Formats: sequence, C-alpha cells, structure tokens
Amino acid sequence: MNTSQLITVANALVEPGKGLLAADESGPTIAKRFREIDVESTEENRLAYRRLLFTTPEIERYLSGIILFDETIRQSASDGTPLPKVLSDKGVVPGIKVDKGAKPLAGFGEEKVTEGLDGLRERLAEYYELGARFAKWRSVIAIGEGMPTTACMEANAHALARYAALCQEADIVPIVEPEVLIDGEHTIEQCRQATAETWYHLYNQMHRQDVLLEGSLLKASMVLSGKACSEQASVEEVAEETVSLARELVPAAVPGIVFLSGGQSPVRATQHLDAMNRLGEQPWKLGFSYARALQEPVMQAWRGDDGNTEAAQNALFQRAKLNSEAMLGRYSSDMEEAA
Ligand code: G3H
Repeated sequence: MNTSQLITVANALVEPGKGLLAADESGPTIAKRFREIDVESTEENRLAYRRLLFTTPEIERYLSGIILFDETIRQSASDGTPLPKVLSDKGVVPGIKVDKGAKPLAGFGEEKVTEGLDGLRERLAEYYELGARFAKWRSVIAIGEGMPTTACMEANAHALARYAALCQEADIVPIVEPEVLIDGEHTIEQCRQATAETWYHLYNQMHRQDVLLEGSLLKASMVLSGKACSEQASVEEVAEETVSLARELVPAAVPGIVFLSGGQSPVRATQHLDAMNRLGEQPWKLGFSYARALQEPVMQAWRGDDGNTEAAQNALFQRAKLNSEAMLGRYSSDMEEAA
C-alpha cells in the first residue's frame, strides 16, 4: 500500500475550488436519464455524451476528478486516446464506480445492501492499470416506518469498510458513500438521526477494518427534510445541521467530505454547499461530487444532438464554476443570472 500516494490523491480531489463529477451512471440509470430527454441508451449515444462531458474546454479549472462506469473506463476519444488518459492529461483524476448495486437485504423488507465484494481485488487491479486512482461504492439507507434498521446500517457499513480496505491495498483512494435517501415525508430531525447512526456505524467499521482515513473521502448526503415533508428546512438550517453532525461523527483525519445532490435541484445543491462553506473553517474540506446537479442542465442542452455540443459543454462549465464558488463560500444568486 502506497500510503503517501493515497494521501496525495485524496487531498488533490478536494483541492479548494475543485470538485468531482459523478458520470458513473450504471446501464439502467443512464437509460432512465436519457429517456427524460428522448435519447435512446445505445453504446454510441452513451459514448458521445461522455466524450462531450470529458472534453469540455477548461473543465479542469473546476473539476479535480470524474467518476466513470466500467463501460466508460474502457472507451476512447475520437482520436483513439483512452478516456481515462484524456482526463489525466488535463490533470483530472479518473475514478471508477466499483459496487454492483444495492440489492434487497434478506429479511428486512424494503431495505437494501450493496453488493460487489466478490472478485473486487482483481477488478481493482485491472482498474488501476486502466488509470483509475480513486473509486466509489454507494450504499443506500432509507428512512420510513421502522427504517433504517441497525442491521441494514451495519451490513452496509461493513461492506463499505471492506471495500475501502481493498481499494487502499490496490493504491486506489476509496470514496465511501452511504446515501441517506431524500424520499419520504420525514423531517430534518429524522434525517439527522438516521444520518448520525449511519456515520457512526460507518466509522466504527472503518476503524475495525484498519482503513487509512487520511487516504479516503466521505461522499455524504446532506441532512435534509424528506422530499414529501410538509415543512422544508431552510438553506441555513440544512447547512447548520449537516456541518454540526459531521463535526460530531466524521473524523478530522478524513481530508474531505464531498456531497451528492440526491435529487435536489442544481441551484439548491449549490446553495447548500455554499452555506456550509460559509460556516467557517472545518477539519475537512467540504466539496461536491454531483451527478444530477451538474448534469441536468447539460442533458437538457444536449438532447442527443451533436449540434448542441457547445451549449451543453457551456452548461457543464457554468454549473461546475458555480459549485467551485460554493466550495469557497463565495457563491451568490446573481451568479446564476450571469451564467
Ligand atoms: O452515487 C450517487 C452519485 O454519485 C451522485 O448522484 O448527485 O445525482 O445524487 P446525485
């Protein structure tokens, strides 16, 4: 295990003003996103779309890394350059989603456990050869009647920590992502409680499995009111609850917390990140690792038409720039209008 490389990469991924683009949608997820813009999910269309994202001029000013899916890490640009090399040549670190998805947790109704540990050591060695220097594993925690259960949180935390240890053995920085889902009528207090228990179990297991926290990152969901909750918390409240909870439960040795957008609108996700970064100096950097909140405007501009490439790339550049400002606590709504 190359400890210094892991620490260097983890810190580079959360360099102030730079975040991550999650472009690692699995087959069914990208098909769903494409359906919303009337584009068929063929290999050709997926490649065209991802080439568009990765070749956005000067995107490296605001992105430190991009998370790829297995199909994408094996593909090339039109001149034959492998896509991971296209990124690393620009100074953007290529990452890879390595989990095999959330599957029903036997005996626990609607709850899920993320699978993918079998054969992971071999897959990680191959991904390193293909250029990946960091990885992502997402587990999902639902809030509802009797949920989340300790069994679900523990099972997912155990898998996340074992994945993280395997990544570090392969000199790949693990991003551990326990997403507490936004779906439901729960209040922000219920979300805080579920998130607290989730992070508690996660870092318990990370210690058990001897994961080098300095060479890892947390991909976190924000502490939010459920999507269907009648009383929506304010931006300031979300920022305060999320950061104060992280101060209680996320070890200071972790270099950064990168947030997922989880179904928030692009603007709201940026506002929340900005408000968190206005709360002052924290033990870790607070950055972004958005999929939908960066890509929604890009897909709307592109709609599967090559003629819209420039507009779509412009949309990505602007959204990444606004989130870069939010990471520095310098974002304002006027910037939306200017963009
Ligand atoms: O695993 C989830 C994605 O990487 C983040 O996606 O920003 O659309 O929630 P999202």
